[in-house]
Order: sequence, then C-alpha cells, then structure tokens
Amino acid sequence: MNSNSSGTSSLYKFQVEEDPTKRPKSVVDVGCGIGGSSRYIASKFGAKCQGITLSPVQAQRANALAAAQGLSDKASFQVTDALEQPFPDGQFDLVWSMESGEHMPDKAKFVNELARVTAPGGTIIIVTWCHRDLAPTEESLQPWEKELLNKICDSFYLPAWCSTAEYVKLLQSLSLQDIKAEDWSQYVAPFWPAVIRSALTWKGLTSLLRSGKLDNSCGS
Ligand SMILES: C[S@@+](CC[C@H](N)C(=O)[O-])C[C@H]1O[C@@H](n2cnc3c(N)ncnc32)[C@H](O)[C@@H]1O
Repeated sequence: MNSNSSGTSSLYKFQVEEDPTKRPKSVVDVGCGIGGSSRYIASKFGAKCQGITLSPVQAQRANALAAAQGLSDKASFQVTDALEQPFPDGQFDLVWSMESGEHMPDKAKFVNELARVTAPGGTIIIVTWCHRDLAPTEESLQPWEKELLNKICDSFYLPAWCSTAEYVKLLQSLSLQDIKAEDWSQYVAPFWPAVIRSALTWKGLTSLLRSGKLDNSCGS
C-alpha cells in the first residue's frame, strides 16, 4: 500500500468519507511533503487545506503543484515546525499527519500541538511508524530489536520511535474521545520491495550516491 492509498483508507476508516457531518472544511496537513494528501482532500471535499513542512523545497513544489491543478485557493503550503504551529487553538476540523510523526523528536509535544489546533468535535488522523507494543512483562524492546531500529533511524535520520500504545496513552492524557488504533504493517509491507526496486535504477542509484546513503550502507 502506498501513501496515497493509505491516505484514502485513513479517511474511509475514520468515516470521514461516508459521514457527511465529518466532511472536513478546514484541514492542516502536518508534515505535508509535496502536498499530495492536501490536494486530494481539497479536490475531494472542497476543503481548505494548509500544509506544513520543514522543507522550503517541498513547500515550493507543493504550492506549484496545487497551482498547476487549479487548487491554489484551497491548498497552500508553508515552512512551519509541527511542534510550534503558528495556528490559533481549535482552527481545523481535520488534523492530518501522514508519515510525519516518526520524524518528531518529542512525541508528547507533537500530539499536544495536533490536539491544540483541532476544533471541538474535529478529527485527528495520525498514520505513522511505530514499534510493537510491549508485553505487560516487558520493560523494553529486545536488544536485537533496538539494534534494528537504530539502523533504521540512522538510515532515515529519524529520532526514537514509540509504540502505538504509547501514542494512545498520549492521546488519552489529553482527554480526547473515540480513540482508535490499528496496525497496518501487513498492508504497508509490500511497499518496501517496490522502494528497493525503484532504488535499483540508474536514477535511484545516482540519487542515493548524491544523498550519501550508499556510502553509509557500504560502510556499515
Ligand atoms: C515522509 S514525509 C511524508 C510526506 C507526506 N505526508 C506524504 O505522506 O507523502 C515526512 C514529512 O514530515 C515533515 N516534517 C518532519 N519533521 C517536521 C516538523 N518538525 N515540522 C513539520 N514538518 C515536519 C518533512 O518535512 C516531510 O514533509
């Protein structure tokens, strides 16, 4: 499953698509990349979407793509830190974060900001990488699991991960209601062989070389 179909499924899963009362009017796309989710939501629901990213290049490309698709009045993008959002409390009826939570070094602050900018009765959708939940008898992941996670974090420049249960706890601590969580690993897993295949092209290899990742992986 790729990001786009995950996005569509996320909307469906949280009944945003089916229930007309949940159709978003005002959306923040937290960690928007080049804005695919925002353009989809803007064109599907006519919602006004504001995407935020740390990357000026992404924000510029996202604005250009929105303009090219005639969506400039509905989807706009800016460089903003998700942990310090400039928006007033309760501004958005849909707060959307697709594969950006794993980049946030402070998960509590991240979730807090998402909740702060959500309007009363609004919806927060977080699709993110999590490690497995710990068993009641466990205090931490197994050493080999930690080692594997460290490798992934090094390769993708990611901070420490948390589990789904920890996210749920954070959301509960903010007294949010109707919290649902689900493990989508089995649907996402087939995406990774496709990523590897795409890297094994001339273009993929040259971009890896440019990013230094190939040097890193050869060195490890
Ligand atoms: C893997 S990309 C996901 C992009 C997009 N949501 C998608 O699904 O295609 C992660 C995004 O999170 C953004 N990001 C990471 N840390 C951030 C932060 N502190 N504040 C805002 N955006 C952040 C990155 O700039 C990037 O746009």
